[in-house]
Amino acid sequence: MPRNDEINASINVWFVDAAIDTEPLEQLLIPDERTRARRYRFEADRRRSIVARAALRRLLGDALGIAPRDVPIVVGDNDKPRLDGGALHFNATHSGDLVAIAIAATEVGVDAEQLRPMSDAVAIAERFFSPAEVERVKGACNVDAEFFTIWTMKEAVVKGIGSGIMSSLQSFTTPAGVTTLAPVECGNATFSGWYTMPLGAPEGYRAAVATKSANALVSVREFRF
Ligand SMILES: CC(C)(COP(=O)(O)OP(=O)(O)OC[C@H]1O[C@@H](n2cnc3c(N)ncnc32)[C@H](O)[C@@H]1OP(=O)(O)O)[C@@H](O)C(=O)NCCC(=O)NCCS
Repeated sequence: MPRNDEINASINVWFVDAAIDTEPLEQLLIPDERTRARRYRFEADRRRSIVARAALRRLLGDALGIAPRDVPIVVGDNDKPRLDGGALHFNATHSGDLVAIAIAATEVGVDAEQLRPMSDAVAIAERFFSPAEVERVKGACNVDAEFFTIWTMKEAVVKGIGSGIMSSLQSFTTPAGVTTLAPVECGNATFSGWYTMPLGAPEGYRAAVATKSANALVSVREFRF
């Protein structure tokens, strides 16, 4: 487990398998989180929610040297969860059987999507992506995979900012073909200064991280309870 000072120097991303028995994990959650998880209609949503929050509490608890249930997670602007008064930032995402957690010393966003056949990838891209990104999707050998590569980077930026669906997604362009953090191009102050990159996600998924810290080292690992 990385120490607090290691976390300060980098962005740490953990992939977590959500296809696991959640019963032993519920003890890591606070009562509100257990109640919220029980409200989900579908078992898969309930499981992802529990795994994500339990992993988050374990990782933050270890970094802060406190018990998972004592980690002071509060709801911030636009419902973005954050640490109450803490120096660490985090973000979480879940899709299919995958949870990803990012923890950093600066604002961070993470997104993961399970790859799935899209009959309308170009149409969705034309609605939400910048013109340069639409061309990347249209010109890709695997249109769906390129769509999700761009989608996860865009969503990671939006989640890092915490602005949600009101963001004008077409006004910024994610970097193409990068394997390290690279700046987004934009004509909109909201997104300037943000960097993003795709992550080496498990097979069948695309994932990306975003930060304002250009030189951050991004480390990716697997987390098991
Ligand atoms: C929550 C939101 C930010 C992402 O939703 P999503 O992709 O469906 O879900 P993800 O699994 O990636 O992320 C969910 C997690 O993000 C976190 N989150 C919630 N609100 C957030 C916000 N405003 N900003 C950042 N993170 C947020 C939470 O930890 C949440 O997990 P939880 O519900 O288990 O607590 C969504 O409300 C949103 O606004 N998304 C942007 C949608 C969009 O326009 N996408 C187009 C990209 S091209």
